[in-house]
Amino acid sequence: GVKILTSTRKIYVTRKLPEDIEARLAKHFDVRSWDEEDKPVPRETLLEEIKDVDGLFCMITETIDEEVLQAGKRLKVVANMAVGHNNIDVETATANGITVTNTPDVLTETTADLAFALLMASARRLVETSDTLQKGEWGAWSPMQFTGQDVFGQTLGIVGLGRIGEAVVKRAKGFDMDVLYYSRTRKKDKESELDIAYAELDRLLEKADFVMLLLPYSSESHHLIGQRELALMKENAILINASRGGIIDEDALYQALANDEIWGAGLDVYEQEPVPTDHPLLTLSNVTAVPHIGSASVKTRRAMADLAVDNLIQVLDEKEAVTPVNL
Ligand code: DGY
Repeated sequence: GVKILTSTRKIYVTRKLPEDIEARLAKHFDVRSWDEEDKPVPRETLLEEIKDVDGLFCMITETIDEEVLQAGKRLKVVANMAVGHNNIDVETATANGITVTNTPDVLTETTADLAFALLMASARRLVETSDTLQKGEWGAWSPMQFTGQDVFGQTLGIVGLGRIGEAVVKRAKGFDMDVLYYSRTRKKDKESELDIAYAELDRLLEKADFVMLLLPYSSESHHLIGQRELALMKENAILINASRGGIIDEDALYQALANDEIWGAGLDVYEQEPVPTDHPLLTLSNVTAVPHIGSASVKTRRAMADLAVDNLIQVLDEKEAVTPVNL
């Protein structure tokens, strides 16, 4: 028979993916990939590989800046396997006609689960006390030993009421919490629907027993929580961050925690990732720290990868992206 040559569309994938998802990609594209599971592609390799591809499948570990976008002479789409896209210069991509896509919705509930788990783990000192037990330092039961903070019936302040914020509200309501929220644009319709109240950031910080950050990272939200903001928080308050590390001034957070100005912090994200093991925050017993696992359930990570594949297929078939982020 006659072999019809469909135009070969080339893509580059920046990490090892589950085999069936790689197979899905291979059905549609000429695929090259960085084959390591745990190590990001070196920048020089990415700059080389990007030169002749039509699409890029990348992660938050890659910085897709102007240099990378310029090097991608044929590049039409950058599919990020994450909802956050602060690792990509979307403005330059847009100016160059490159579609950028992310993976919203599929990770909402999973990330809300982790954010709430981090809240509970911090409040009840799960990690710290488990470590103590394992080290044989339990001692004897005593009246105030290992005491933490209540969750049920307390006040939660959510900064950034997007999809994940709303999903956290549902969990908080099951714990009879009063929920305050702050977001750049007030969402009045949500207030009665979800039984939550709007508060300016300063007032939220003053009132909340738990402050949870669930907003995107940008130059606007960089160090949104610094010394001044931490000083507004209650002494028994716990700060939870499951969005991006750069939203908090980590030096200021260290000071506030070390001086017992706030009670604790539950962190999934850091300004530098992986967070260096000698980072001051990791020396504090009132910090519960996990390694950026918000979306890390098997089902959700697979759904994120599949959505990134769907986006590549759509754009390279000259159809609308499923979840574009370009304005
Ligand atoms: C995201 O999706 O933005 C997370 O940080 C990675 O899952």
